[in-house]
Formats: sequence, structure tokens, C-alpha cells
Amino acid sequence: MQRRLLFALGLCLLISRTQAQLIGGEEDEEEEEEEEEEEESIEDETPEEKLQRKNIKQDSNLSVDKLIAKYGYQAEVHHVTTDDGYILTMHRIRNSGAQPFLLQHGLVDSSAGFVVMGPNVSLAYLLADHNYDVWLGNARGNRYSRNHTTLDPDASKFWDFSWHEIGMYDLPAMIDHVLKVTGYKKLQYAGHSQGCTAFFVMCSMRPAYNEKIISMQAMAPAVYAKETEDHPYIRAMSLYFNSLVGSSITEMFNGEFRFLCRMTEETERLCIEAVFGIVGRNWNEFNRKMFPVVLGHYPAGVAAKQVKHFIQIIKTGRFAPYSYSSNKNMVLYREHVPPRYNLSLVTVPTFVYYSSNDLLCHPHDVEAMCEDLGNVTGKYLVPLKEFNHMDFLWAVDVRKLLYNRMLQVLGKQPQAKDIEGEAKGLRIRGRAIGQNAAR
Ligand SMILES: *[C@@H]1O[C@H](CO)[C@@H](O)[C@H](O)[C@H]1NC(C)=O
Ligand SMILES: *[C@@H]1O[C@H](CO)[C@@H](O)[C@H](O)[C@H]1NC(C)=O
Ligand SMILES: *[C@@H]1O[C@H](CO)[C@@H](O)[C@H](O)[C@H]1NC(C)=O
Ligand SMILES: *[C@@H]1O[C@H](CO)[C@@H](O)[C@H](O)[C@H]1NC(C)=O
Ligand SMILES: *[C@@H]1O[C@H](CO)[C@@H](O)[C@H](O)[C@H]1NC(C)=O
Repeated sequence: MQRRLLFALGLCLLISRTQAQLIGGEEDEEEEEEEEEEEESIEDETPEEKLQRKNIKQDSNLSVDKLIAKYGYQAEVHHVTTDDGYILTMHRIRNSGAQPFLLQHGLVDSSAGFVVMGPNVSLAYLLADHNYDVWLGNARGNRYSRNHTTLDPDASKFWDFSWHEIGMYDLPAMIDHVLKVTGYKKLQYAGHSQGCTAFFVMCSMRPAYNEKIISMQAMAPAVYAKETEDHPYIRAMSLYFNSLVGSSITEMFNGEFRFLCRMTEETERLCIEAVFGIVGRNWNEFNRKMFPVVLGHYPAGVAAKQVKHFIQIIKTGRFAPYSYSSNKNMVLYREHVPPRYNLSLVTVPTFVYYSSNDLLCHPHDVEAMCEDLGNVTGKYLVPLKEFNHMDFLWAVDVRKLLYNRMLQVLGKQPQAKDIEGEAKGLRIRGRAIGQNAAR
């Protein structure tokens, strides 16, 4: 089994690599869509199911702002230029006058991560329903932030960054933009995975930004990663990355291995298993019906250096800036190895959410991180053993298991319908399909 998964992942990497070298931007989308409109209508389908199927198809192909608008929220698109020239796109679920709340996504993700499961599940909508002015960031290099004042996104110079730069430049630029537009002095922040990593980089390297944040809600913070070294894929990945040294590839995972995943039931299952192999296995909380939507929005593009930097902190066990050759380190950092980020400088009140089946973010590592952060106000281990790294965004029961706790931490009262969880039909279907597939 393990071998088959590795093979699947290898295939994905290979394909994404080849594609990244061959194609630049997104393909033309319009024509194909027209053709598919006439598609088969499935027999015995209730009107409800038909609508659901149509929504899923649409949602896999809408940009984040269009998705937000489709579900009846007021959507806005903003462009923000960083000090080093990257032009980022922010999405906003506008709630004029309300407290701004910035959500920042993880690796290979985009603002889509916070809306992709729809209004009854995803965090951005929940926060909007609780009267926040919700802003969704997009880090440099993802599909919404592939632009620069002088650099060409198809040239390798553009891709010379890791999450260090996302923390140093992207987050500050986006935070300043939100505060400027709204007139607020401080905002609320929540991050998933790398959205936490970059945040802690920012607060330790540019401590003045601590003052601009009311509180940090840190979901699955990938910061210390000692335990991740035993991860089977990480080993494979680091071998893969060693083989990349000196090669021209700098942009990753923007390739379209989607066609492979969509080919048959079996390839779809393999793709999901491949994802589970990386983030932790949890069929019960995975809504397989929504997989086409997930595939439409992931992976959103990432620089190889981002992944290499993560692999460095996994291998060295040190949360530190990117390490080059000893000589270059000496020039850049005046030491042979880069000095660690000083987490005690992160004085923002931080609440941490983590889980026991998160293969990228082991509870031991999270607890060690909490010891070192400057102001941890609490932590919450999700009370479901199988909860994985992506369940923080995708789990069928994520509101019940996680977000309602976050609302409490934020001083909000979860509404009855939040507690009920999302549309029951989806949950039942998600379960049933998941369990069949797991066998
Ligand atoms: C939209 O759908 C077409 C064909 O189904 C696909 O090629 C394209 O990548 C999709 N676009 C997005 C943004 O998902
Ligand atoms: C969300 O749930 C409510 C009731 O629970 C339902 O009326 C609504 O259609 C759902 N919205 C979506 C987009 O599924
Ligand atoms: C990139 O930004 C420039 C402004 O500097 C703008 O003119 C151009 O349209 C943008 N390109 C894309 C693809 O958004
Ligand atoms: C980290 O910051 C704290 C608070 O300013 C300081 O006391 C400590 O010496 C710093 N640690 C390192 C290793 O620089
Ligand atoms: C930690 O956060 C609390 C607010 O929750 C604040 O009152 C306190 O001053 C902070 N502590 C430090 C060391 O910054």
C-alpha cells in the first residue's frame, strides 16, 4: 500500500514538474465549459442532487471573489504591492464598519482554502456571519499573486522566495492595507499552517507588527517540525529536492495533475489517498463529493524554495531563516548557520489549535512551540483522533469540532445553526461515500 501511495505522489510530482517547465499561465477556460454544459443528466437524480452537482461543478471553476458573490456575500478584490515589488491580490467579504479579520492560507493553498467548502462550512463565511469584515490574503506566487512591478512571473528570479519573505513583506503589506482601508488600528488574525509560520516570522523580525494584531488564532502551526522527520513522504520529498539542486525548476505544483485525478473513480481515490499520505488519513471527515471543488482550487502554486525551507526546519529541527552554503550564510547572517527566529518576541496573544493525526504538525512540536512563543493564551487539541492537517479547512464537521471553539475564544456566541453543524445531507453523504471508498 505504502509503495503504491509513494508511486502516486511521485507521479504527481513528476507531472507537476514537467508541466511547470512547459506551461506558464492558466489555460483558456471558456470553451470547454460551454461544451460541458450539455453534459449527461444522471437518472434517478432528485432536483436537490442535481442542484448540488451543478454547484459543485460551478464552484470548482469560480475564482474566490466570484464564489463569495455567488453565495450572496459582498465580494471585493484588492491589490497590494509589497516593499519588494510583489503585487498581491486580497479578497474581502465586506462588512463595512465591522472589525477587520485577516485570514492567511497555508502552503500550496490560496484564499480559496477559507471558502472552498461553502457558506455552511468554511471559516470565512462563519466569521462574516458573526459580523467581521473578512479579508483573505494571498501570498506571493499563488495563482492570485503572480505579479510584480518589475519581475516576470515566468522568470526564475520571481520565484526566489520562501515563507520568510511572506512574513517579512507580504503580511505587513496586507495588514497595513486592511488598516488603511478600514480605519481600524488593529485587526484579528487567523492562519492555517504556513499562514502561522509566516506570521511568527513577521512578529519576531518586525516586532512593531505585534501592536497591530488583537489576537492570533493559529491553526495547525507548522513551526517546529522535529517529529515530522519520520514522515515517509518528507523523506521522499527531500530526496526529490536534493535532485533538484542546480536545476532550473523554481515554481512547483502549479501543474495540472487534475486530469489524472478526474480520470476514473480509482484514480480519484488514489489522489485522495496521496493527499492523505501527506496530511493524515481521515475518510470520515472528507466530503468526497466536494473533491472536484478542491481539485479546482488546489494546488494554487508555490515556490520550490518554500518547500525546501520547510524541509530544512524539519531536518535541522531549528526554526530559522533559509540556510545557504556556509560562506553565504556567513555573509548574510554572520554565522555559519542562520540564527533562530526569536519566538519570545511574538507578544500577540496567541491561541493555538492542533490535532493528533496531523502528519505535518505533530502535537509534541506544537507544544514545544507554545513553550517558546511570547504570549500563548491557550491551546486546543481537536477532540477527534483522526483530524488531519487539512481538516482544519475541509472537515465535514469542522464547525462543531473547531470553529465554534474559536468563536468562543473570540468572545462570540456560536449560533444554534453553527452548533447544528452544516447541512446534514452533505454530512451523511460525505460519510457514506467516504466509508465505502475506504474499504
Ligand atoms: C475550469 O474548467 C476547465 C474545464 O473543465 C478547466 O480546464 C479549468 O482549469 C477550470 N478552471 C479553474 C479555475 O478551475
Ligand atoms: C446552508 O444551510 C441552510 C440550512 O441549514 C440551507 O438552507 C442552505 O441552502 C445551505 N447553503 C448552502 C450553500 O448549502
Ligand atoms: C500586473 O501589474 C501591473 C501593474 O504593475 C498591471 O498593469 C498588470 O495588468 C498586472 N498583470 C496581471 C496579469 O494582473
Ligand atoms: C529573544 O528576545 C528576548 C526578549 O527581547 C531576549 O531576552 C533574548 O535574549 C532573545 N534571545 C535571543 C537568542 O536572541
Ligand atoms: C499577552 O496578552 C495579554 C492580552 O491577552 C496582554 O494583556 C499582555 O500584556 C500580553 N503579554 C505580553 C508579555 O505581551
